[in-house]
Amino acid sequence: MEANIKLQPSQYGAAQRLAGRVALVTGAGPGLGGVIAQAYAREGAKLVVCDIDEAALQTTQAALQALGAECLPVLCDVSSSASVEAMFDLALARWGAVDILVNNAARVPSSDLETQRRNQHYAYATTPVPRQSLGVVASLSDEDWLKWWGVNMHGVFYCTRAALRSMQPRQWGRIINIASVAGLGAGSMHSPGYSATKAGVISLTRTTAYDVAGANIFVNAIACGGVHTPPFEAYLAGATETQRNSLFQMIPAGRLGRPEEYAALALFLAAEDHYLVGQVISPNGGYVI
Ligand SMILES: NC(=O)c1ccc[n+]([C@@H]2O[C@H](COP(=O)([O-])OP(=O)(O)OC[C@H]3O[C@@H](n4cnc5c(N)ncnc54)[C@H](O)[C@@H]3O)[C@@H](O)[C@H]2O)c1
Repeated sequence: MEANIKLQPSQYGAAQRLAGRVALVTGAGPGLGGVIAQAYAREGAKLVVCDIDEAALQTTQAALQALGAECLPVLCDVSSSASVEAMFDLALARWGAVDILVNNAARVPSSDLETQRRNQHYAYATTPVPRQSLGVVASLSDEDWLKWWGVNMHGVFYCTRAALRSMQPRQWGRIINIASVAGLGAGSMHSPGYSATKAGVISLTRTTAYDVAGANIFVNAIACGGVHTPPFEAYLAGATETQRNSLFQMIPAGRLGRPEEYAALALFLAAEDHYLVGQVISPNGGYVI
């Protein structure tokens, strides 16, 4: 039997799993996106990293350069179709292809009002307070509802469409959409708009996966549980001990995930040797089982 996986020699002595691949990671600041970009770089990928925040992008660029990776940093607002097209034009002009796309960029719930609702939700879920409506949906403003869609949903579509135009003629590609447990159930009921966009990402993952699997392009989603990234660190730093305990009480593993634990899965999904199509994999410490 002939193996169809081409192993390439690595500077570390073992085969690098992404050697020769070009990977584009959106929202590649110091949070999950930057950690995934570094995991890919260690496996030999060339990286296009984009973010809307220049300082965040520079942090990741420095980390990638320290790893000796070839890197193209692009300031890009993924909620703008034109900006996304311009970013892909740059990537294709530099390297001729985008083989792997990680749709990671997102607006995440972190305003004072969202933190207040989050604490209310955790207390409600873990203490015997009287059962009543939490009043979240009825109190949402138009802005509260609309502000998520540009980045979290339209951005994923714009980047996916642009990436497919590069992947389809080459008959190879991997797309990894960073969704959330928020899109699987009511685990982020304190932010209904955010949750709806993440459910939308899961839906787009499935339909796109079906569409393009025949061209050897595999699309999957990672529905993250809580991760130790800057927004969640900020929440924990501002929470009381009771509030932190309420959160950990809801997670059977008793802790949040580490970015490296998610990056390991993102690496697996980006590599050659799997048969996953349209799957939603949720590392969440048992928060949703
Ligand atoms: N941290 C968690 O607990 C958690 C849980 C579930 C899902 N997620 C998902 O993981 C992903 C990464 O989140 P994170 O926790 O690292 O947060 P983060 O805020 O550190 O990372 C998001 C990045 O996206 C960038 N970004 C925002 N708007 C953008 C735009 N319009 N164009 C380009 N870039 C933009 C931000 O500047 C930031 O660098 C997100 O998709 C988030 O929804 C995170």
